[in-house]
Amino acid sequence: MDSANKNVDLDLKEALEGLARSEKRLPSKLFYDKRGSLLFDEICELEEYYPTRTELGILEANLDEIVEEIHDDALLVEPGSGSSQKTRLLLDRLPRLAGYAPIEISENYLARIVEDLRAAYPALPLFPVAADFTKPFRLPPTAERIDRRVVYFPGSTIGNFTDEDASRLLAGFADACGAEGGMIIGVDLEKDPDVVRRAYNDAEGVTAEFNLNILARLNRDYGADFNLDAFRHRADYRPELGRVEMRLVSLVDQSVSLAGEQIPFAEGETILTEYSNKYTLERFARLAADSFTIDKAWTDDRDWFAVLALSTKR
Ligand code: AVJ
Repeated sequence: MDSANKNVDLDLKEALEGLARSEKRLPSKLFYDKRGSLLFDEICELEEYYPTRTELGILEANLDEIVEEIHDDALLVEPGSGSSQKTRLLLDRLPRLAGYAPIEISENYLARIVEDLRAAYPALPLFPVAADFTKPFRLPPTAERIDRRVVYFPGSTIGNFTDEDASRLLAGFADACGAEGGMIIGVDLEKDPDVVRRAYNDAEGVTAEFNLNILARLNRDYGADFNLDAFRHRADYRPELGRVEMRLVSLVDQSVSLAGEQIPFAEGETILTEYSNKYTLERFARLAADSFTIDKAWTDDRDWFAVLALSTKR
């Protein structure tokens, strides 16, 4: 079996397990099929969705300092690299990098991105890794010895994980980097609850479509029979927990079939599809504390988002 099929089976298994729980849930990584990735790109353009443009502003305003924290001769590692579009800002400024290692779950997509990168940066050694970064992964061997590895993890993707899982994930990144390792990470910060609520309940309904696409995807890829009209998007910001909780609400009593299983839904029952944590710097420092120290933090003038430079403790 090739690795793409293996991922499909693992994803289906995780989906079935999540839907068998008393509080149903689906893993957020299922959002990002082709259509989901396009919808997310659309979300990033929305007036209400502040994280992408705020982070980009921070990167642009502090690029010299950020590049300096990475070091010229490092191996830059990017879990969930996607289109690597934001990364180009860094790659343009780091012509002597030991290499760039994008980690992407979709092998085909990764191959395409690598081709584009090869054309744009002919002198940059590329070490693509087709893997699910939420599972332990290995960095590929490099011909030359590399002393410094730096993980680039923008977009507050870390916010999708519970604090416990986020700590575990960061520990895995620290292990992959080893001593002298570092990380540049983007984290979304606590702010006026209404600003956050609007970002996840946009007027055009793109976020609702993005959320519902997880069901459309189960239909497309696994032959499920979710009726998309019988579920509704809901996103609640719970400041006391420091997170947005995104759910799909069943509008009726219904039964859905997936891979031979019948999944019952009561009217009003929900599927948890995503957490999006909004941190204070103290809270983030605490959850990273086992594996990283924070060396630098850059924010925007409203303190809505932060880009942090960390170093491994081991
Ligand atoms: C890509 C995980 C950072 O949590 O804000 C956007 C995904 N979900 N709108 C986020 C998302 C709903 C996004 N992350």
